[in-house]
Amino acid sequence: MEDSVADSDVADTGTAYGFAPGRPNLELAQVGPGTGYGEVLRRYWQPIGLAADAGPVPRQVRVLGEDLILFRTGSGEPGLLYPRCAHRGASLFYGGVEPDGIRCCYHGWLFDPEGRCLEQPCEPGNGLHRDRIRQPWYAVRERYGLIWAYLGDPARKPLLPRYDVLENVGPDEQLISDDTGVGGGGPAFLDFNWLQHWENVLDPFHVPILHGRFSGFQFSPEMALMPEVRFEYTARGVRSTQVRALGDGRTLRRVTEVMFPNLRVVASPRLAPGPTNILGWVVPCDDYSFRIFTVARDADPEFLVRLRAAHDGKPWRALTEAEHQRMPGDYECQKSQGPITLHSDDHLTTTDQGVAMLRRMMARQIKAVAAGGDPPGVAFSPADDMVAIEGGNYFETGASPGGRPPGTPA
Ligand code: FES
Ligand SMILES: [Fe+2]
Repeated sequence: MEDSVADSDVADTGTAYGFAPGRPNLELAQVGPGTGYGEVLRRYWQPIGLAADAGPVPRQVRVLGEDLILFRTGSGEPGLLYPRCAHRGASLFYGGVEPDGIRCCYHGWLFDPEGRCLEQPCEPGNGLHRDRIRQPWYAVRERYGLIWAYLGDPARKPLLPRYDVLENVGPDEQLISDDTGVGGGGPAFLDFNWLQHWENVLDPFHVPILHGRFSGFQFSPEMALMPEVRFEYTARGVRSTQVRALGDGRTLRRVTEVMFPNLRVVASPRLAPGPTNILGWVVPCDDYSFRIFTVARDADPEFLVRLRAAHDGKPWRALTEAEHQRMPGDYECQKSQGPITLHSDDHLTTTDQGVAMLRRMMARQIKAVAAGGDPPGVAFSPADDMVAIEGGNYFETGASPGGRPPGTPA
């Protein structure tokens, strides 16, 4: 049999032979001290634990690449200290919590939540020079059932913000805080770069494909319609407006926001109408892992449990390996992009406009912060500390563009 012309005379193009993988954009992805976006993240308060995580037993916390010890004194004050004792370095993880602070187990130095050394019991006079010692510490606050820490320059510390959708909670409802990740399925501990998750918030086009077709149908039938989408910069980040004609004379206008430095405002995919009742903070532990702190407001204390996505009715952790492959969700997509995705290999297209806008805004803010400026949304006056949330599901009647089945021309 003769070789075909194609096999013998024309070189194949685009094969994987010699393909060289690209590089991550570390300026955006890394979070440690002195890194590009790490310094932007440090200009805002970050949730680092649930209120109950600060207690009488010291707890190790890893946040923005730093290892710290969280505790709550016997008098109820939370503290967040550098772990290596200022004396000779034993970890305060093994310390004992007392009414006024935490006592190192090795020689008994006692530190208050701001790192002041209150006692040195082995020293003459209980340590005549103990006021020269300061255990490195960070400021912490409590709000909405979370512990918040400020890991940045103390001279630039903003006010801890309030969010209008979490304020003035009525007698029939409550705030529910959670750190186990809420979304399209996945484990509580997320073992890949945080930005892969955060920028996914501005990717509404994956919803009808991944969640409507691959994941074993998640969320609601309306979400499986391909939306018409508009992306816009806001004063605090980037917003997408997704419009779907529902076929019954109604239009769903769904607004999703990301706010600097790592807040996601994603309304219920079960399409509860009105402004969202859920906010989520994507908090990096380090460059390769993150946690999601969620605060919801609802009458049902199990609201977040019910919101968790299933795959053909099964929870993510109950899936077999074969089912994970057959019904992938957000976790499988984002984790498989790599420990830190290779941003230079991406081919951003029309529908990636939101992702591209976010990356550009992050790069601009890295420069602004490095030049001594303030990043967006930080408030230094009580008159400015309330954040207005627009994200939500808004149902409207009347003619509208938008809403087409997947795969049809826009
Ligand atoms: S190492 Fe902590 S008191 Fe000595
Ligand atoms: Fe998703």
